Amino acid sequence: MNKVICITGASTGIGAATARTLAEGNTIYLHYNSSEKPAHEVAESVTASGGIAHLIRADLTTEAGCVQLTAELKKHTSKLDVLVNNAGGLLRRNSIVEGLEWELMEETFRLNTFSTMLLTSLCQPLLQEGNDPCVINISSIAVRHGAPSATIYGACKGAVDTFTRGAATELAPGIRVNAIAPGVIATPFHEKVSTPERMKQFAEKCPLKRNGQADHIASAVRFIMENDFLTGETIDINGGLFMR
Ligand SMILES: NC(=O)c1ccc[n+]([C@@H]2O[C@H](COP(=O)([O-])OP(=O)(O)OC[C@H]3O[C@@H](n4cnc5c(N)ncnc54)[C@H](OP(=O)(O)O)[C@@H]3O)[C@@H](O)[C@H]2O)c1
Repeated sequence: MNKVICITGASTGIGAATARTLAEGNTIYLHYNSSEKPAHEVAESVTASGGIAHLIRADLTTEAGCVQLTAELKKHTSKLDVLVNNAGGLLRRNSIVEGLEWELMEETFRLNTFSTMLLTSLCQPLLQEGNDPCVINISSIAVRHGAPSATIYGACKGAVDTFTRGAATELAPGIRVNAIAPGVIATPFHEKVSTPERMKQFAEKCPLKRNGQADHIASAVRFIMENDFLTGETIDINGGLFMR
């Protein structure tokens, strides 16, 4: 494909699977923050599959981190074909009833929403130079219905969906902007915030009676990249847990 791709949060889970899926023939900028060893393993696997991998570390909960990531990209490349705004997560479950914590709300928005918005804007000049350039934001099923003690996280991703439509309008016709809303996907995300019992309950609730795998989302990233008539859309991939 010979694409220049930047994937944020490429050290584990969905980001790592996306990097592995897109590796062959592409140059991939793999962003990570704290998972250095897994990030290096992803880079090795991209190289082994015939891709070129560059690692960039940045804390995306800060403006400085987003600026630094973009500056690193600009040092190495004069164009970007694909930006996958994937870094994110539910930092901790926090119930409205028990009392919301301001700092946690702020950090959740900084990681999931502000970084997506700012990186899209900062990378826009690089994307303008790309070939059928596109931005792919990772949203969540939490937007569609309440998730247990994850209301703020759901609201963050709701803002990502709204931003996706606005950015798709503003950046058209040159740059396409879409999002993917994963259902429950078995990744390190849940190791931090969902017990094995809760994971079983999620699977039981799902019409397909299972949780998803990171590859289910990675293949959707490829689909969006390859479909040049798609913009402003959020694609739900959740085993039927939410149906429109
Ligand atoms: N798994 C699910 O069920 C599910 C469902 C819906 C949506 N999602 C979304 O899918 C995306 C990927 O999640 P995942 O399931 O693959 O989880 P994951 O394995 O925990 O991956 C999260 C990624 O985000 C990065 N990250 C976390 N904090 C960061 C920070 N402060 N600065 C920069 N990067 C940071 C992590 O990098 P380091 O580890 O290197 O710090 C990691 O690469 C997230 O946006 C998540 O909200 C997941």
